[in-house]
Amino acid sequence: MIDIFDNFYRGKRVLVTGHTGFKGSWLSIWLYELGAEVIGVAKKPFTECDNYVLSGIGSKIKADIRADICDGERMKQIFAEFQPDIVFHLAAQPLVRLSYEMPVETYATNVMGTINIMEAIRATNNVKVGVMITTDKCYENKEQIWGYRENEPMGGYDPYSSSKGAAEIAIASWRCSFFNSADYGKKHHVSLASVRAGNVIGGGDWALDRIIPDCIKALEAGKDIDIRNPQAIRPWQHVLEPLSGYMLLASKMWKEPTKYCEGWNFGPRAESIVPVWDVATDVIKNYGSGQLNDISTPNTLHEAKLLMLDISKAKFLLGWEPRMNIHQCIALTVDWYKRYKDEDVYALCLEQIETYLAYGK
Ligand SMILES: NC(=O)c1ccc[n+]([C@@H]2O[C@H](COP(=O)([O-])OP(=O)(O)OC[C@H]3O[C@@H](n4cnc5c(N)ncnc54)[C@H](O)[C@@H]3O)[C@@H](O)[C@H]2O)c1
Repeated sequence: MIDIFDNFYRGKRVLVTGHTGFKGSWLSIWLYELGAEVIGVAKKPFTECDNYVLSGIGSKIKADIRADICDGERMKQIFAEFQPDIVFHLAAQPLVRLSYEMPVETYATNVMGTINIMEAIRATNNVKVGVMITTDKCYENKEQIWGYRENEPMGGYDPYSSSKGAAEIAIASWRCSFFNSADYGKKHHVSLASVRAGNVIGGGDWALDRIIPDCIKALEAGKDIDIRNPQAIRPWQHVLEPLSGYMLLASKMWKEPTKYCEGWNFGPRAESIVPVWDVATDVIKNYGSGQLNDISTPNTLHEAKLLMLDISKAKFLLGWEPRMNIHQCIALTVDWYKRYKDEDVYALCLEQIETYLAYGK
């Protein structure tokens, strides 16, 4: 595999929280292929068709640990045992609609879980880089037509969004209080950043109330695809896009720890910010069959209608930018779902990473 990170990850001990989930499984596969010793910490996978299960990545990595990030002492034990160099913190309750049903659990996982990971980082001497994954929904959403920049206020209407806004505030606080750039090399050796991506699509996601899993489940069952929020406009991106940004950022933080320890947006190109309906239409086109059904009602739970990220900072300061347009992202995603039942899913994931990398040449 082409290594766009110049051999940086080879031999590094990288702890990934949430590696049994959608994004975490792809990140673990990519890191493993680049020669990292991956330590995964998460709860068990959700379904037998999750990318983590089908790819078999759990049996390849150095440690595949089931643990709850709400258990701070357990996190400290794991960090003490495995002494990671780099941490990617992805574990979360990531669903807006579920957060209305489980607001307390959502806050416990997303806010206290994040604090527990930062405390575990603080308790070891090894960790040099921590990349904390939040979301585009952490910003105070003004339904504005411009993309949010990294220095705009945090907020959030629903419990999920506000829990991630709160996590961002906690991360900024830990950076000021314990991992301050001014004290680097004197009181600590940690570079801590937070990263915000858009609506991520890709193979192996079966989460509730996400458009791609909703489409695929309906298509596999031969049913119409019900669309709850057809006009909601989201920044869509393939999972490999933000992951490449997180990995690039971590490599830069390692080399220049006090230069990059802040918040970063890794969103898509402006033309990939389109309504849910258009995405579902493109899914049908790529799948080769299917029918859409508008089921929007005035009583639908509140979800943001318009949400965009400004990615100028990552472009100019990191040299990162999205490689694929929206149609390429959807085509690559649907390709996974058309093939996962008949093929070796690990090989399929590697092929998709190669395809993704070839787009940027
Ligand atoms: N998927 C998206 O569109 C998207 C967009 C922006 C941000 N994010 C963020 O990216 C991260 C990963 O999202 P995803 O879509 O892969 O989610 P996912 O639901 O597929 O995976 C979540 C992972 O977190 C783990 N987890 C949850 N609660 C835990 C706990 N208490 N203790 C230990 N592990 C726990 C799960 O076991 C799983 O491995 C999340 O932080 C999410 O908020 C996702």
